[in-house]
Amino acid sequence: METMENIRSRQSYRAFKPDTIPWKVMQEIIEAASNSPTYMGTQPWEMAVVTGKKKEQLSQKLLELAKSNAPTSPDIPVPTSWPAELDQRKHEHGARRLSTLGIKREDKEGREKMRLLNFEFYGAPCAVFLYMDGSLGEWSIFDMALFTQNLLLAAYARGIGSVIQASVTEYAKEIKQVLGIGLHKKLLVCISMGYPDPDATVNTYRSLKKKPEEFVTWYE
Ligand SMILES: Cc1cc2nc3c(=O)[nH]c(=O)nc-3n(C[C@H](O)[C@H](O)[C@H](O)COP(=O)(O)O)c2cc1C
Repeated sequence: METMENIRSRQSYRAFKPDTIPWKVMQEIIEAASNSPTYMGTQPWEMAVVTGKKKEQLSQKLLELAKSNAPTSPDIPVPTSWPAELDQRKHEHGARRLSTLGIKREDKEGREKMRLLNFEFYGAPCAVFLYMDGSLGEWSIFDMALFTQNLLLAAYARGIGSVIQASVTEYAKEIKQVLGIGLHKKLLVCISMGYPDPDATVNTYRSLKKKPEEFVTWYE
């Protein structure tokens, strides 16, 4: 796929076909993403690729925790407030996603079902976790984010859809325990990956994007 087309048409997918991603394809995508720029070439990325029985075991654990609203332990604190403009976008995004699925705001059960799908990795055959050493700070998070986007785009170029999920990483401690990752590591993000289900309504959702004139100041 042509690069500009790839960047422009990527979207988050939240429903997948059961088909597994061939090992070779996954390796090719990861290798491509490892060409990401990093602060002084430090390459802080560490990655867990979780499929099969292990993914089911982890999903069961996460669902238990999420259903009982167990205390969370995110390594990156969840923002408690947003500037008004961003807060409005956040609400708009939530409302538009619900309306794509025909779920009403007052339908608590429907909203809860939608939330819990996060912990089933939206039915994706593969869940990826990105983490780094716990001693690292903001610049390394920047590096991790660049890697993340390259991973998404490389996957998309091979027909693989994905969705980044901060909600899942709220249970960082338990995820690290299940995967045998040292508790001193900082878990940044979960990415569910698989071949998009073309018939799923949820995949028709398109988020709104700012126009360049809303955020760019030109100087000369
Ligand atoms: C840091 C981060 C965390 C996210 N967490 C979640 C999540 O927990 N669950 C989810 O369904 N989508 C999550 N998303 C996906 C966003 O909702 C999505 O990227 C955004 O609405 C823009 O839509 P698009 O990816 O289709 O362009 C997350 C995205 C980012 C970058």
